[in-house]
Amino acid sequence: MNSKIYIETYGCQMNFADTEIVLGILKNKGYEVANSIDDADVILLNTCSIRDNAEQRIYGRLGNLKNLKNQKPELLLGILGCMAERLRKDLIEEKKIVDLVVGPDEYRRLPEYIDIAFNGEKGIGVRLSRTETYDDIEPHREDGLSAWISVMRGCDKFCTFCVVPFTRGRERSRSLQSVVQEVQNLSERGFKEVTLLGQNVNSYLDCENDFADLLEACAKVDRNMRIRFTTSHPQDLSDKLLYTIAENSNICNYIHLPVQSGSNRILELMNRTYTIEHYLNLIEKARKIIPGVSFSTDIIAGFPTETWQDHLATLEVMKQVRYDGAYMFKYSPREGTKAYRMEDDVPDEVKTKRLQEIIDLQQTISYQKNQELIGKEEVVLVEGFSRKSDEFLAGRTDTNKVVVFPKFYNIAVGDYVTVKINKATSATLFGEIVENFSFKESLNLKCV
Ligand code: SAH
Ligand code: SF4
Ligand code: F3S
Repeated sequence: MNSKIYIETYGCQMNFADTEIVLGILKNKGYEVANSIDDADVILLNTCSIRDNAEQRIYGRLGNLKNLKNQKPELLLGILGCMAERLRKDLIEEKKIVDLVVGPDEYRRLPEYIDIAFNGEKGIGVRLSRTETYDDIEPHREDGLSAWISVMRGCDKFCTFCVVPFTRGRERSRSLQSVVQEVQNLSERGFKEVTLLGQNVNSYLDCENDFADLLEACAKVDRNMRIRFTTSHPQDLSDKLLYTIAENSNICNYIHLPVQSGSNRILELMNRTYTIEHYLNLIEKARKIIPGVSFSTDIIAGFPTETWQDHLATLEVMKQVRYDGAYMFKYSPREGTKAYRMEDDVPDEVKTKRLQEIIDLQQTISYQKNQELIGKEEVVLVEGFSRKSDEFLAGRTDTNKVVVFPKFYNIAVGDYVTVKINKATSATLFGEIVENFSFKESLNLKCV
């Protein structure tokens, strides 16, 4: 009988995409995907190291799984992903329950490491690669509407707070051809949305093709498919990319553009390589080139030496840009990074207070921005029933906002509908269907 694998995934979307690659690799070798944890012969945690609390959560989970392993000693437990890379042997030596530790560039050899572990030894593979992109691996994906596609791996930016360059290694891109082929396959399977992923997609390069070329090539595959992407670094977001978004109506008008801090002094200490003036100019230019574009961001509160003034500068940038959404974090020192050598001198209660102010401000802005949409019509991709009631459907706008509206007899999951917004909270829009929407027709309209 074939062994069954169960993977739990933590961290960013790239980790979720990697889990599908790992399952693709293991299925090729005859493994089956377990439906539940109790059914599994091998349990793998695909882990994240970005902040200390991410790692603590995984240690907690390992504690629970230890009990399961005590009852079922033949069960294999493994750590994949960024913690595997960061902690390596410590995980095996200190946390003796782990049988496998396999980092993000060694998944091709995972079947070998599992065999080693089944034979009673520890399977350890933590080498990083300059070339591995898993270009030829078909990820294992359940049928659905939305898919993630990693188009590049690693990061060369070395922001001083960040572990990613250490856990994911150097930047490398997949071939344009293989990404386009994957989009084509997903379109044939009925997917309606793909998100192209990379830690800094603006650095994508395959021969002379840059990220704008890749986006356009993907957008052409199926005009009924929405194309999203994340993450863009403010240093090298090109005009060409902005025009490509503007000219292709199925590339979503939504840019995740992490600012991290509003203070130039802190940005420099973070090695973010741009100034706030550059950042704000970029936002202004994008808004001119792409009417209706929306932005989200990442913000860190309490980076070393951050003063009250620096914090106020962050709040000021948030007010100027008026983001549609933000991911907001307390600074967490990570061993091995440059910032780790700076003193973590902002007390935790100050970090908490600043973070709360940032969250409160973002909530107010999100609420106001959503209120401004009342009376407007939005094109929504129907994703399913709303979380609260089967009488309502839910989907997202081009700008990634959730919209809830009463169900209608001939509207199905995967349809595009135009919804007139009549109510809004900071997190959700509510409305009524106005009409069925066809991307192709709207495209023709745009073209004449
Ligand atoms: N490559 C992306 C995202 C990287 S991780 C980018 O450059 O934006 C996602 C976010 O986690 C970062 O943008 C940052 O805001 C946050 N983050 C990374 N390291 C952190 C740390 N040590 N402490 C707190 N937040 C951190
Ligand atoms: Fe980390 Fe900076 Fe790379 Fe993003 S760009 S992954 S924050 S080093
Ligand atoms: Fe976490 Fe690694 Fe992603 S550290 S955020 S899983 S790249």
